Amino acid sequence: MSFVSVVVTRVGGIIRFMSDSEDRFSVSRRDFLKSAGLGGMATAAATAVGATEAGAQSEPAVLGPGDVPVALTVNGQRLDLRIEPRVTLLDALRNRADLTGNKRVCDRGACGACTMIVDGRTVYSCSTLAIDVQGRQIRTVDGLAQGDRLHPVQQAFCDVDALMCGFCTPGFVVATVSLLEKYPNATPEQAAKELDGNVCRCGTFVRIMEAAMKAKTMMGAARG
Ligand code: FES
Ligand code: FES
Repeated sequence: MSFVSVVVTRVGGIIRFMSDSEDRFSVSRRDFLKSAGLGGMATAAATAVGATEAGAQSEPAVLGPGDVPVALTVNGQRLDLRIEPRVTLLDALRNRADLTGNKRVCDRGACGACTMIVDGRTVYSCSTLAIDVQGRQIRTVDGLAQGDRLHPVQQAFCDVDALMCGFCTPGFVVATVSLLEKYPNATPEQAAKELDGNVCRCGTFVRIMEAAMKAKTMMGAARG
């Protein structure tokens, strides 16, 4: 199926990709986050009951509310910061490390503009605490280019003009890099599914899909 058969639909006010062969029972990143949130609440409740029953035998370590040392590995470089434990990964990198490539748009895990890769998996950095990703490999859009040479995904987005205002673009670029590392020969259906946690309010979805498929071809040619 060519990418043009992937349609754009609007569900609950959010524009998203959907292919006519989309698996109704598969789990998307957005679905996973929803279920993980519910699971997390259940776990927290169970933990609270357990802690009460155990009579608070072992007190958890308390960090903050002031600044604490946080060591991050970002784009292969170690970053030593002093931040409050409540600071998100996005704010830590944008405000304390001058890594401003990824954007804060919704700040609530709904749009994907802040998408980063942590240990090979995409995360919404606006909804991830920096202190929780110490010791992990963090990759941002800032680390994709090699000097003046853009990453093939960045180049493909430029080549096919896959942006309008550009606020969503860093997140889409990172999510597309993750897609093509996971599926080097990604089909349009796989691309639509993997990118469905990202939203473009300007509606450039068709061009974004085109860029993803072009980047796949460029990366395939580079592999030989
Ligand atoms: S800014 Fe993080 S999901 Fe929108
Ligand atoms: S290009 Fe404007 S939100 Fe995507």
